[in-house]
Amino acid sequence: MRLKVRRSGPPERYDSFEVRPTPGMSVLAALFQVRESADDSLAFRYSCRGAVCGTCAMLINKVPRLACRTQAALLIAGEKPVRLSPYPALESAEPWDPGEEILVEPLPHLPVIRDLVVDMTNFFRYYREIDPVLHPAGSPPDNEYLMSQSFVKELEVYTNCILCGACFGACPVNAGDPDYLGPAALAKLYRFHIDPREAGDGSRLLKANSPRGWWDCRFHGNCMTVCPKGVPPIIAIGKARKELSGMGRGQEKGEIR
Ligand code: SF4
Ligand code: FES
Repeated sequence: MRLKVRRSGPPERYDSFEVRPTPGMSVLAALFQVRESADDSLAFRYSCRGAVCGTCAMLINKVPRLACRTQAALLIAGEKPVRLSPYPALESAEPWDPGEEILVEPLPHLPVIRDLVVDMTNFFRYYREIDPVLHPAGSPPDNEYLMSQSFVKELEVYTNCILCGACFGACPVNAGDPDYLGPAALAKLYRFHIDPREAGDGSRLLKANSPRGWWDCRFHGNCMTVCPKGVPPIIAIGKARKELSGMGRGQEKGEIR
């Protein structure tokens, strides 16, 4: 098995490395093998190695995904095609042989620091812009907040986000508009909007009521396709837009006790 890896250079190039497959080997483990046996200057980012920290997102065979969660052998064996709306990072495809090679590139739409390490400053700046903390109404209860299980499930869909940036890298709107807040920030904003503990005056949604927020999305759906945690930003965006247009009933907040 071979890894074909984008290197930042100079000069910018693709380097190919032979990798000895081991059972259950992830792409991240394959990158470690390259560092240990072929080129210890190869730079990539990781921490948990268990799909929890969100730091190892990269473009693997032209799909943004977590390197620690992507099985190398399954890619070589031929995976079901992942259908994404096209965006420039896919169009400049470096040829590779999917039966023999795995193509590994940095996450698109963010500046490359070195090799597979990208500068996430914009991603986290947009995330901070939506004020990702709760502003509860009234004083907190003596013990815990209690809410219905069905509502916990609805909230969990959004709280599962690990801020990996795969959706940001997959979004054709982010490709064309560097100011777009992006799927993860908007999904998180919606998550706080529907949280029953939040002081519910609806002003949360107004934070992204602009051309670079809810209204910039073109519903390509790449965000939902690539999210390793099943977060559905386009659903949040659609509901927020409906609510802001006065077409929806508005999100009913779950009860808390
Ligand atoms: S929404 Fe999904 S893809 Fe986007 S940052 Fe969160 S976990 Fe990653
Ligand atoms: S190393 Fe933490 S998500 Fe991959």
